Amino acid sequence: METNFTTNITKNKKLIDWVNEIASLCTPEKIHWCDGSEKENEELCNLLVKNGTYTKLNEKLRPNSYLARSNPADVARVEGRTFICSEQEIDAGPTNNWANPKDMKEKLNTLFKGCMRGRTMYVIPFSMGPIGSHISQIGIEITDSAYVVTNMRIMTRMGQKVLDVLGDNGFFVPCVHSVGCPLKVGEKDVAWPCNPENTYITHFPETREIWSFGSGYGGNALLGKKCLALRIASKMAKDEGWLAEHMLIAGIESPCGEKTYIGAAFPSACGKTNLAMLVPPKGLEDWKVWTVGDDIAWIKKGNDGRIYAINPEAGFFGVAPGTSLKTNPNAIHSLEKNCIFTNVALTDDGDVWWEGLTDEAPKHLIDWKGNEWTPGCGRDAAHPNSRFTAPASQCPTIDPKWEDPAGVPISAFIFGGRLSKNAPLVTEAYNWAYGVYLGATIGSEKTAAAEGQAAVRRDPMAMLPFCGYNMGDYWSHWLNFGAKLSNPPKIFKVNWFRKNEQGKFMWPGFGDNMRVIKWIVERVNGKAKAVESPIGYMPPYSAIEWKGLDYPKADFYKLMEVDKSEYSKEALDHHAHFKPFAEQTKLPREFVSESMLLQLRLERCNEKWELPKE
Ligand code: OXD
Ligand code: MN
Repeated sequence: METNFTTNITKNKKLIDWVNEIASLCTPEKIHWCDGSEKENEELCNLLVKNGTYTKLNEKLRPNSYLARSNPADVARVEGRTFICSEQEIDAGPTNNWANPKDMKEKLNTLFKGCMRGRTMYVIPFSMGPIGSHISQIGIEITDSAYVVTNMRIMTRMGQKVLDVLGDNGFFVPCVHSVGCPLKVGEKDVAWPCNPENTYITHFPETREIWSFGSGYGGNALLGKKCLALRIASKMAKDEGWLAEHMLIAGIESPCGEKTYIGAAFPSACGKTNLAMLVPPKGLEDWKVWTVGDDIAWIKKGNDGRIYAINPEAGFFGVAPGTSLKTNPNAIHSLEKNCIFTNVALTDDGDVWWEGLTDEAPKHLIDWKGNEWTPGCGRDAAHPNSRFTAPASQCPTIDPKWEDPAGVPISAFIFGGRLSKNAPLVTEAYNWAYGVYLGATIGSEKTAAAEGQAAVRRDPMAMLPFCGYNMGDYWSHWLNFGAKLSNPPKIFKVNWFRKNEQGKFMWPGFGDNMRVIKWIVERVNGKAKAVESPIGYMPPYSAIEWKGLDYPKADFYKLMEVDKSEYSKEALDHHAHFKPFAEQTKLPREFVSESMLLQLRLERCNEKWELPKE
């Protein structure tokens, strides 16, 4: 193939040279520059249907939508195969897999050599964030997967318009992706090519490069999302003084029309999409939640001393199972058309289904592996990590400012965990440093091998798999960022998942979380009361709006209780969590004092700290 091509699509020499270089390495059959047009998308979807990757869904029930079934060995992000290749190992830190950049480049050169033989190499210019926003960044993904192109068209702003903004000399993050399955002459392709034995998701934070090999799924392959918008962007943000966070952004509108924007970080699978699209419950119908983003926030200081956030994405790549009209009607309405579904089940009338979509399962389905499925057969119809790719613009609660290049002003940060014990519904940090400490210690429970025991996986700021550099430096960056703000946002910690002695959730969750969000917003606006507890400020019973929910006062006191000895164990566990960072002299000194203060406050309180009875 002629790789020394010239093009009038762009005059950006760096880009043209790089595309030539990757083409000579990967030796594809042809190169396709994506323009992002409707026509191009239609042609690619038709090709994917012809190859057996896509099944077109019933045009009446689910217009312009497709179902893909992946190889069962390629169904999720692979943290074990994800690498941060910084020059120094310490700069990747104790939470990342590190590889020497030179060694990794050698390995990648071998893997990518000829890897696109017999395939088309697509060049995808994309913008993370509204095109032309001073907070946005441009990436160029090279991929041999048409599935990736059609997903990137939903998840990012993609095509010729991005090249126009890039201009002749603009900066872009180069992202190279291959499914890692070259085709021999005449060899028939499979529906989902992938190479699980040789999967590598690699990041070079210092040179701002991404190379991904062997997987076609989600964050492994749609390189704008976790790879660029979090791992590479977090390092750019550190170097340039901004924040790239694993956060939803929502605008909370009060009955008098006052809007307060929040950024909220939760570990994966803790209901971020549900919170971003929350429907206020009975009693709070005059409040409204507007969606700016459900997964990632890029945040910069404005000239007015406030901070402003954009959602770098243009779509939702959400987990399907559990999403229903009851749990998240706005997500369901976002999925009515123009969507791609991956690894969900197919109904007999050509629509999609997954566990939890309806109370009763259809009588017959084709499951995510393409097999016959009937209720009670003992298998999941949809894979637990099956996904929808949906345009954010289709969300009924999409915020009118969601594409504002200036971003939206953030007034509060929320960090959430998933803990069944010992973690009250909500606490407000006394100050920025303690708030950062709260964010750095959030976690969610995983079931340990020992039955009945729950171990906590600490997931600082929900960034554990996504921070592109040493997490200790990341905490210091947060501390510095807030210290320079004249009026930093308040920081809160929430936990919707506390259970009682009978193992039942103590808080109804979902729409009722609005009661907590309302208190948070009113705290930010100086309108709500709080009492001081040993672990932060808390709402007294009377500061929560209870209209429409029959929730006994005594249950609320239990939900907010702090058990001194249990919480002291929690504080001790923070030490274990911090130890690897302290050993690398990367633990911020503020954390040492915050931890000591927390223990002292606990020492001086009663065995059970309770909210004052009202
Ligand atoms: C996601 C994740 O897919 O956080 O958004 O894992
Ligand atoms: Mn996420």
